Amino acid sequence: MAVTPTKPAIDAHKLRADFPIFEQHFHGKPLVYLDSAVASQKPRQVLQAMDSFYETSYTNVHRGVYALSERATAAYEGARDKARAFVNAPSAREIIFLRNATEAINLVAYSWGLNNLGPGDVVIVTELEHHSNYVPWQYIAKKMGADFRMLPLDDNGEVRLDALDEVAAGAHVKVVASNLVSNSLGTISDVTTLAAWAHEQGAIYVCDAAQAAPHRRVDVQELGADFVAVSGHKMCGPSGIGFLWGRAELLERMEPFLMGGHMIRKVAYEQTTWGELPHKFEAGSAPSAEAVGLGAAIDYLEAIGLDAIAAYEHELAAYALERLAEVPGIVLYGPPADHRAGIVSFNVGDFHPHDVAQILDMDAIAIRAGHHCCQPLMRKLGVAATNRASFYLYTLPEEIDRLVDGLHKVHKILG
Ligand SMILES: Cc1ncc(COP(=O)(O)O)c(C=O)c1O
Repeated sequence: MAVTPTKPAIDAHKLRADFPIFEQHFHGKPLVYLDSAVASQKPRQVLQAMDSFYETSYTNVHRGVYALSERATAAYEGARDKARAFVNAPSAREIIFLRNATEAINLVAYSWGLNNLGPGDVVIVTELEHHSNYVPWQYIAKKMGADFRMLPLDDNGEVRLDALDEVAAGAHVKVVASNLVSNSLGTISDVTTLAAWAHEQGAIYVCDAAQAAPHRRVDVQELGADFVAVSGHKMCGPSGIGFLWGRAELLERMEPFLMGGHMIRKVAYEQTTWGELPHKFEAGSAPSAEAVGLGAAIDYLEAIGLDAIAAYEHELAAYALERLAEVPGIVLYGPPADHRAGIVSFNVGDFHPHDVAQILDMDAIAIRAGHHCCQPLMRKLGVAATNRASFYLYTLPEEIDRLVDGLHKVHKILG
């Protein structure tokens, strides 16, 4: 029997009014957006902040000496300070604005990896990684003659911390990289233990927080990480902006990733020297309006409260796992509700995930079908693809009911 979650920590019905996208219908039905892990929807507060920046404050930042330029720069740097506070970074110099989490991880893989990895070293990732935190490490390790190894998962889809010593055997561990929340299974990993273990080995720990930062409090100092990657578009912010937090002492010793305007101290024919943090890593014209939008998104999330968001999504995940279990032939992947964020991956019998998603779309139910950029995980699960429903602060329990009804309909059509 369907059980409605009790005591919702936030009022999702009320919050939805902030999101213009929900005013629309698709195929004549109200949109049920259950794909927030791929990208979140945007509240008016973010859209208005960007509009207002373009209307009143826009020009390139860190360039002109005139008042408008100073206003634009102050808005951009204000957003950096919001990002700093959001992840409790010790200094705003440690926040590097980039396009997204992928670019943030590539920056570390190239800038740190090209100068610190070599034969006899090993880079360890987990079997649960998004390709963004897998492929760059695999590539750089190979290029530098280092080993690339994978920490396995248990049958619940949780990282096997007990296998760390075995995986590391016989090599010098230099990098441990993992996500905090898996985009495929919603698994919340114990990254503080991973970070502490990495440091015992003399390695750096790189945390992919793309799927965590939108949904729960991420405190870089508590995590004990060396680098943390965040994407803005998954946390109510615009596309094209994310950030890397890194420890200043590491960032200072690293070479730039991209070269060009703004990131230099002095350019001469004989030699070029680099600017200070964070500018050394922000070559070219900055995504200023996007940063302002991200700052507004941070304000929006902070006003609701990250703990409240996490608690609400936890209830949604528990409710979804319970309701989805009613669907005949369903296989639910991943850990129990108490170890997962608001993400549920599943397959229904031997129906192709794309067929399932397409039939659901006829009722305006948007879910994902595919490998979710996690092909090593799909191999572990023994499937080519799954369906995935993912939730956010605006998701309603009724929408999970509509998903379940939709899956019964899938059975009628394909069964
Ligand atoms: C866990 C995880 N890491 C990294 C990424 C990459 O994020 P982006 O495409 O914004 O760089 C994603 C995107 O889905 C993700 O879910």
